[in-house]
Amino acid sequence: MTTDVLQDQIAYYRARAGEYDEWFYRKGRYDRGAEINQQWFDEVALVMREVEALGRVGHVLELAAGTGIWTVELAKIASHITAVDASAEVIAINREKLSSPIVNYIQADLFAWEPDKQYDLVFFAFWLSHVPPEQLDGFLDKVRRATKPGGRIFAIDSLPDNTSSAANHEAYRPDDIYHTRKLNDGREFKIVKIFYDPADLARKLAEHGFNAQVKTSGRYFWYTSVFRTP
Ligand SMILES: C[S@@+](CC[C@H](N)C(=O)[O-])C[C@H]1O[C@@H](n2cnc3c(N)ncnc32)[C@H](O)[C@@H]1O
Repeated sequence: MTTDVLQDQIAYYRARAGEYDEWFYRKGRYDRGAEINQQWFDEVALVMREVEALGRVGHVLELAAGTGIWTVELAKIASHITAVDASAEVIAINREKLSSPIVNYIQADLFAWEPDKQYDLVFFAFWLSHVPPEQLDGFLDKVRRATKPGGRIFAIDSLPDNTSSAANHEAYRPDDIYHTRKLNDGREFKIVKIFYDPADLARKLAEHGFNAQVKTSGRYFWYTSVFRTP
């Protein structure tokens, strides 16, 4: 089941590339009205300030970089960025948005890809929720291998809230890791989506050498910024 869903998940983000940013900028099916949208944007701003507060960071590895919403922010603090994603379509949008000589793109399936060096910062936004439970330890080991001693990780992802997703998406079901997602044209895909409890996630990260505090921005996001233990 999971292998098929991981392929569907890649297909979903490839097909969704051109409409992906509507989610983040609360457009179309993701527009939940001025007040709720503002709450979302305030929380986004809070997390973006935390990213900016990292200061100059050297070489960044961005996993599942997508259309570049966070790559743009990372480009303000990094001397170089390696951005990995499975979808050529989102990479094309990211490349066009950034148009930056400091970003190097790699199209790869993260479950097969191996880092070829260690980075000062490993960053992943809205990716951990798509890693199936049986792959989580392997993924976090990979993140540790990709992080320099003295380097750090920064991650952000979703807290469960039905207004986070599109108005025509199914409601959050805490016991099911598989979710159906629709495109604007009605096509449906199955994806993995896991909403971590921040305390549970902090314990899991600690097992992999990141003594993390996982914070929340309020209603919509958890995030963590933590150095690798030696
Ligand atoms: C929710 S989006 C997050 C994108 C970006 N980090 C952001 O926050 O806007 C998930 C991303 O994971 C990518 N992806 C899905 N499966 C993947 C895989 N197996 N390997 C690499 N990237 C994958 C998708 O193409 C998509 O860009």
